[in-house]
Amino acid sequence: MSELLDSKQIIVYFVYLIASFFFILGLKKLGSPKTARRGNQFAMIGMLLAIVMTLLNEQILDYTYIIAGLIVGGAIGAVVAKKVQMTSMPEMVALFNGFGGGSSTFVAYSEYMRVSSEATAPANDVTISIVLSVLIGTVTFFGSLIAFAKLQGIMRGAPITFKGQQVVNALGLVAIAVLGYMLTGDYTQEQYLLIIIAISTLLGILAVIPIGGADMPVVISLLNSYSGLAAAATGFVLSNNMLIIAGALVGASGLILTQIMCKAMNRSLANVLFAAVGTDDSTGTSTRGDRSKVTEYTPEDAAMVFEAASSILIVPGYGLAVSQAQHIVHELATMLQDRNIKVRYAIHPVAGRMPGHMNVLLAEANVPYDLLYEMDEINEEFQNTDLALILGANDVVNPAARTDKDSPLYGMPILNVDYAKSVMIVKRSLSPGFAGVDNPLFYADKTMMLFGDAKDMMTAVVKELKDS
Ligand code: TAP
Repeated sequence: MSELLDSKQIIVYFVYLIASFFFILGLKKLGSPKTARRGNQFAMIGMLLAIVMTLLNEQILDYTYIIAGLIVGGAIGAVVAKKVQMTSMPEMVALFNGFGGGSSTFVAYSEYMRVSSEATAPANDVTISIVLSVLIGTVTFFGSLIAFAKLQGIMRGAPITFKGQQVVNALGLVAIAVLGYMLTGDYTQEQYLLIIIAISTLLGILAVIPIGGADMPVVISLLNSYSGLAAAATGFVLSNNMLIIAGALVGASGLILTQIMCKAMNRSLANVLFAAVGTDDSTGTSTRGDRSKVTEYTPEDAAMVFEAASSILIVPGYGLAVSQAQHIVHELATMLQDRNIKVRYAIHPVAGRMPGHMNVLLAEANVPYDLLYEMDEINEEFQNTDLALILGANDVVNPAARTDKDSPLYGMPILNVDYAKSVMIVKRSLSPGFAGVDNPLFYADKTMMLFGDAKDMMTAVVKELKDS
């Protein structure tokens, strides 16, 4: 019998190893837009193997709730993912992270109920893992709900701060450490764990309310990392290696992504978390700027400029996602290429509202990957380019980031569009971007402003080109 169990265990571990291999391969492939789709498929195979093996492995007495959960949860997830707008993706990711953290809390709590009903005390490492899982899971759940509410406009995006906030956070953590220690001394005291959950709830809320709406994508990535850590802690609670590995991978990759985003904005993580930078999302709501001081073009003028250029660099930004202009932009680019004009796309790492936002949008319109260039590869090229065409981007091309020491954008690496021979900016008004900072590029001599929705404007330009 024991031999049989051992060989079964070997199979389980072997399948878990294969699943981990698929996870790592999936993450590697997600590193490039060319292979990202395949990366997702590999990760899905890994997850399927992990779930199936876990369901077969553990001594499950009743599958009813599991099947009901799979059907209800799977259906909700599929419908929501299908219906969500690309611009609302950060909100959806925030909710998913939150639910990941919440489930870690539930699993750890139910495991506590099980072990605390037994006559012998659980080992200290089990109790500590339960406390960690409950702490990180609850912080992730409530922090993610606040991030969701801020992005969705249910809560104001502006930072909410009060005096002594950091002290309250520190005291909360100390209290949890003390209660956790007391729980290892007397594992039957359920109320200690309930108080830990209550304090963690407060910590989750306090962690996210001081962060401005503009920094929400960074926070969501960090919460994603937390949800992985919570899962890994739950893995220790259940002695499940698969959960430990998967959680650690999510934790590490979320942290790396957070770091990449901070670097692309030239901010430290501490600055994002504690500096309470930003106000509400000002995109599209401000009516700042004086139109009489800019050079305004019509779609007809724009079509002539395009035809006269021999090289164009397209810079997509958040406005492209809002207007869903990716398909018409691809059509325009193809028309221009047919006229022997060299067209490429320059992608800033934090253009849009989530990592890889522009890559995903352009991939949706089947823009060939080899036309997409990362900021570091393309920045030198602007000076040799006839026209930089900026579509709904603002902060990522704002030269104030280079020159204005007082600007909140100062130090953020930008796309050097102002080095191009001419610049055309397509947006609806002179209002600032997410950072709420005015853009001197609008008023530069070489800049042409094409005011309007990016999709409408590009459709009008394509029509002009077809008619010409
Ligand atoms: P933004 O600076 O936010 O500018 C977007 C511009 O799009 C706005 O100025 C807006 O001007 C225009 N717009 C909105 N709707 C439009 C429409 N329908 N048609 C045409 N234009 C439209 O965008 P960006 O340059 O992509 O920069 C991204 C910002 O988000 C940066 O500040 C970045 O730090 C921040 N951020 C991004 C991330 C990630 S991971 N992507 C993470 C954290 C923070 P009008 O209202 O005049 O049209």
